[in-house]
Amino acid sequence: MVGFSPTSQELVCDGVPLSAIAAAEGTPVYVYSAALLRQRYRDITAGFGDYPHRVHYALKANSTLALARLLRELGSGADANSIWEIELARKAGFTPDDIVFTGVGKSDAELACAVPLGLKAINVESAGELDRVEALARKAGVVARVAIRVNPDIDAKSHPHISTGLKINKFGVPVDEAGRLLEGLAARPALKLVAVHMHVGSQMTSLDPVRAAAARLAGFARQAQEAGIALEYLDAGGGLGISYDGGQVPSADRYAAALVDEIRATHLPIVIEPGRSIVGPAAVLLAQVVDVKGRTASSDFAIIDAGMTELMRPALYNGFHRIEPVRPRAGALRQYEIAGPVCESTDIVGRDRTLPPLAAGDLVAIHDTGAYGSAMASNYNRRPLPAEVLVDDGTWRVIRKRQTIDDMLAQEEP
Ligand code: LLP
Repeated sequence: MVGFSPTSQELVCDGVPLSAIAAAEGTPVYVYSAALLRQRYRDITAGFGDYPHRVHYALKANSTLALARLLRELGSGADANSIWEIELARKAGFTPDDIVFTGVGKSDAELACAVPLGLKAINVESAGELDRVEALARKAGVVARVAIRVNPDIDAKSHPHISTGLKINKFGVPVDEAGRLLEGLAARPALKLVAVHMHVGSQMTSLDPVRAAAARLAGFARQAQEAGIALEYLDAGGGLGISYDGGQVPSADRYAAALVDEIRATHLPIVIEPGRSIVGPAAVLLAQVVDVKGRTASSDFAIIDAGMTELMRPALYNGFHRIEPVRPRAGALRQYEIAGPVCESTDIVGRDRTLPPLAAGDLVAIHDTGAYGSAMASNYNRRPLPAEVLVDDGTWRVIRKRQTIDDMLAQEEP
């Protein structure tokens, strides 16, 4: 079994004891399993069988350079959400024609850099953005490859903070307006419409919104084809959920099959932009208990050295992450509020967890933190960004050093 599993002694990552990594690198530290990352990537591509498809890994989920490189080596393309993610992608070896550029607020400066690069597509989110891309393409003397991001007006039924596909969300062009944009494209030679794009939301645990959006995407593609536009592919976005709490989620196979079912009639290749489903389960955040103190008659606080600065998901979305001691102690189970060190009441990493007894100095693993963990970390309370370690083929190495106070101050007035 690849990834994180218990032995009789402790939790290991692909055979490497997590306590050894903590002893060498300190905590908090993100630990990634290269084997699990590879497996997750392969599962998602395999789901499409021989239907033409391309995976563009969503860098926003985790753009640590070594992980981006690993995904490129596996054959993935990239989905970037800022010019800086594009730079990161290129540093990781992705070529511009293997990068799609999404983002609801691409600035003129970002677009001026992106347009001449010859990206696979700039996923345009409004009529105004299309005008700006056109002007920049004319100025640079190039034809910009664009996709229109259509807002499908479909409820992803995930957490409201990570749903993007409703008309009231800020993302994409409403379907009717997108239709009007299509009609005008023939007269705009600096723009080449290569695809239609949709992204309904993240952490989707039902395939209904996936199917509904794919059907809209296919319908819109037919409209474009009827208008004489030769699309190259359809981009169905990301969003496949993972099981944070052990509950059922759709498999990569069923997800891919749902997309293929709805899109097959267009004969167009499918692009997807998964982030979480590839990298989410492939990491734990290792932390150390710094203090235990009473809370109620039946529960204690266990204060750990990782919190909302390293993992924002619990504080921001009430996100649940399974937490377990790396070396469970014998003794009666007890109820804990696992709290971070940050000066905010919302800095609780796990509420009401029933766990083996914890004591100061114990290590805990916070599971499924590969996506939107390190990528969303901050320096609040002047806490340094954590170290990151990759376990690969029985050995491990630091892929991102722990930040220091000097690193932080390097940008400031001396
Ligand atoms: N494509 C687009 C256009 C997106 O907006 C996103 C995510 C993805 C792809 C990748 O979605 P995924 O496969 O990872 O679900 N910070 C939140 C999630 C925000 C997702 C933003 N967009 C969280 O921690 O749950």
